[in-house]
Amino acid sequence: MAHTICLIKGDGIGPEVTEATQRVIEATGAEVTWISLPAGAGAVKKYGKTLPAHTIDHIKEYKVALKGPVTTPIGKGFKSVNVQLRKRMNLYCAIRPVRNLEGVKTRYDDVDLVIFRENTEGLYSGLENEIAEGVVTSLKVVTRKASERIARSAFKYCQERGRKKVTVFHKANIMKKSDGLFLDCVRRIHEEIAPEIEYEELIIDNACMQMVRDPSRFDVLLLENFFGDIISDLCAGLVGGLGVVPGANYGEDVAVFEAVHGSAPDIAGQDIANPLALIMSGVMMLRHLGESDRARQIRDAYNALLAEGKPEELTRDLGGTAGTNAFADALIKRFS
Ligand code: NAI
Repeated sequence: MAHTICLIKGDGIGPEVTEATQRVIEATGAEVTWISLPAGAGAVKKYGKTLPAHTIDHIKEYKVALKGPVTTPIGKGFKSVNVQLRKRMNLYCAIRPVRNLEGVKTRYDDVDLVIFRENTEGLYSGLENEIAEGVVTSLKVVTRKASERIARSAFKYCQERGRKKVTVFHKANIMKKSDGLFLDCVRRIHEEIAPEIEYEELIIDNACMQMVRDPSRFDVLLLENFFGDIISDLCAGLVGGLGVVPGANYGEDVAVFEAVHGSAPDIAGQDIANPLALIMSGVMMLRHLGESDRARQIRDAYNALLAEGKPEELTRDLGGTAGTNAFADALIKRFS
């Protein structure tokens, strides 16, 4: 089957890892037409905007995108492109599978969890005001609608994939109303659609301690936006870093696939970034498109490559010497 996929190469290491991912996907024989679209700091020069309207229009029309990371200035400058994209496409559900991979040595060997992050509200409302000189407020928005739909996604996923337990991390002891509403919604959806799934709530500070002590006790994590952002990187650290954790952002009928990591300006343009996280996101995308065999082909190839652990085939973050392109070549060699 032929597919049209929107492609945002992004900033920093974005172009390097997206081009490597395109090559890997094409090497499976998948028939893909890529529509390259501008977004991020790089789009400003040519279009005067970080997220031009035609980027949004194309993704809405073709419904699937592969996205490289984009840079967001700290403390000043333009609004996050990711936040804008997720809001404008209503990509409310971020799914991030986090697993130990054979050959990637970490302190743990039994991590296998899936993060569900509410992707549209919370502290990412972007509503900040200086209400008086030296006094700033930042609004955390929680709605019943968004909380219930992310809860529904997480419990349905458990039922479809044979997952046994959902754990919510929260701070409802302090944010009684906002996190309180989130918890209230999750409890109701749990009772309504999935009472057979084990359900647990942990205050987030305790949850972080439990996570680094024994991550194997977790199965599916259900998190509001801000906690989901932070916990995703923490979880990446448990299994080998940001180079090995993929992600997908789902809306009602649009899906955008992107790695958890950012644009990594410290290593951009040097052919040393690990493209695996985006390649794994590409695998999620192929499955979404009904290309399960091709997805399995790539997954088997990277599992074999990692298990063999040849330094000349692994990127620097995984203890090897391969560049971004050499890693993609080594992967492609395994199935072509
Ligand atoms: P980052 O994820 O870009 O980098 C954190 C550390 O991990 C750096 O040392 C980097 O070199 C390393 N790293 C990240 N990805 C890697 C890869 N594929 N291979 C090897 N090493 C990798 O986070 P940072 O530095 O906090 O943010 C940089 C920029 O990225 C910021 O502008 C931020 O807003 C943006 N960002 C964008 C995201 C997106 O577009 N989805 C997500 C997270 C951050």
